[in-house]
Amino acid sequence: MTKMVWGGRFSQETDALVNMLNASIGFDRRLYVYDIEGSVAHCRMLAKQNIISDEDASAMVVALGEIKRELDRGGFSSDDDYEDIHTLVEKALVDKVGALGKKIHTGRSRNDQVALDTRLYVRDVIHQVMGSIRDCRETILRLAEDHLDVLMPGYTHLQRAQPVLLSHHLMAYYEMLTRDYTRFEESQARVNVMPLGSAALAGATFDLDREMVAESLGFDQISRNSMDAVSDRDFVLDFLYNASMVMMHLSRLSEELVLWSTQEFGFIVISDAFSTGSSIMPQKKNPDLPELIRGKTGRAYGHLMGLLTTMKGLPLSYNKDMQEDKEALFDSADTVQMCLRVMGSLLGAVTFKTDTLKAATEKGYLVATDLADYLVGKGLTFREAHEIVGKMVVFAMGKNQELHELSLKEMKTYNRQIGEDVYAWLDPQLTVGRRNIPGGTGPDAVKNEIEMAKQQLKTEGGGRRTEGR
Ligand code: ARG
Repeated sequence: MTKMVWGGRFSQETDALVNMLNASIGFDRRLYVYDIEGSVAHCRMLAKQNIISDEDASAMVVALGEIKRELDRGGFSSDDDYEDIHTLVEKALVDKVGALGKKIHTGRSRNDQVALDTRLYVRDVIHQVMGSIRDCRETILRLAEDHLDVLMPGYTHLQRAQPVLLSHHLMAYYEMLTRDYTRFEESQARVNVMPLGSAALAGATFDLDREMVAESLGFDQISRNSMDAVSDRDFVLDFLYNASMVMMHLSRLSEELVLWSTQEFGFIVISDAFSTGSSIMPQKKNPDLPELIRGKTGRAYGHLMGLLTTMKGLPLSYNKDMQEDKEALFDSADTVQMCLRVMGSLLGAVTFKTDTLKAATEKGYLVATDLADYLVGKGLTFREAHEIVGKMVVFAMGKNQELHELSLKEMKTYNRQIGEDVYAWLDPQLTVGRRNIPGGTGPDAVKNEIEMAKQQLKTEGGGRRTEGR
């Protein structure tokens, strides 16, 4: 049994069951980079403030670097030996530099330490997720640009509603993901607050230079209330909410991919490389990937609800309940990262069946609104026109025809002002072409949206493409 860092006031050995529930090393090991980064900054500051000597600080900084490299190589792998990542690093340090290593925790508590580590992690992972969101937006943008001439039915209530451009439909997802990107970016200000110096809850007694630590770790500001600083997990919840939002958007897109790949819709084909088969039905090709993205959305929501619930009854300040933030955070981060990556590749593996999409705009009275607008052009009020076209639709349905298949004579019985030009007016291509209002599905409007999106991608900061560190 290893001795606990807090073992001083204890006369009995910790029961193995306690460790089973209490230890977090099984999942917080991945914070090691941040724990060491924070320890180095703390150590240098202690020396600058003459709380420890320069030689002691140098020895510890060198040793911390070695510990990091050993951890990079998978060292200190036995979870049984450590309670959490903070004690692992501290013990490793004492093993390396001897008793002097015990000075590292001067003016610091694991409570402000874990807050620091988690903030450093979240700050980093936000950058990575933003990078992946950006990649996904670029893929969508490319697809939209490549399919500018493709018509498809737009839906409301999953009923065919009006013809739209496929590009317009795709760019709707670009907009969602752009909001997600911005949401993550905005959340950084609340993450980037440096808590060290808060110690356990009341603030440290030593003359710590908190600003120096903040600056060396790239924080914009220091926390202003030590009790809040050690018990604030709002920034984790922000992340979980933002990740849930991304997942919700990816899930909606996934749902469309699943629907569109059915025989019933037949709008897309997902390449074999991104599909799976059935163990019993030889003919099957299943869209497992979008289904899994849709499915994993549930766990992202679950983590958000889970941590909100964990936090809701906690008195100030730190409580061990808060250790429950980590698995939720890590899993949501991993999930959203993986799903963004897969969605980006999956979209590249989709072939749009443009003829089927266009044919679908010609069945289901999608141009009825345009016919009403036509009648408004002849001087009717929109309500009168709506009523008349409703009757024409019923009539056409009775004959199993579309509106444009009615003869001019038949049309004129509904309104004498309808003329030959109505047929051209009802061409789905032209109905789309009339919607160049900013934000509309007209080709010029969509081209403009794409152009603006390109500019936006060029000028926006933040986001990094690198994989986890
Ligand atoms: N593993 C703990 C956590 O994640 C670290 C902080 C422990 N602090 C304490 N006083 N036990 O929250």
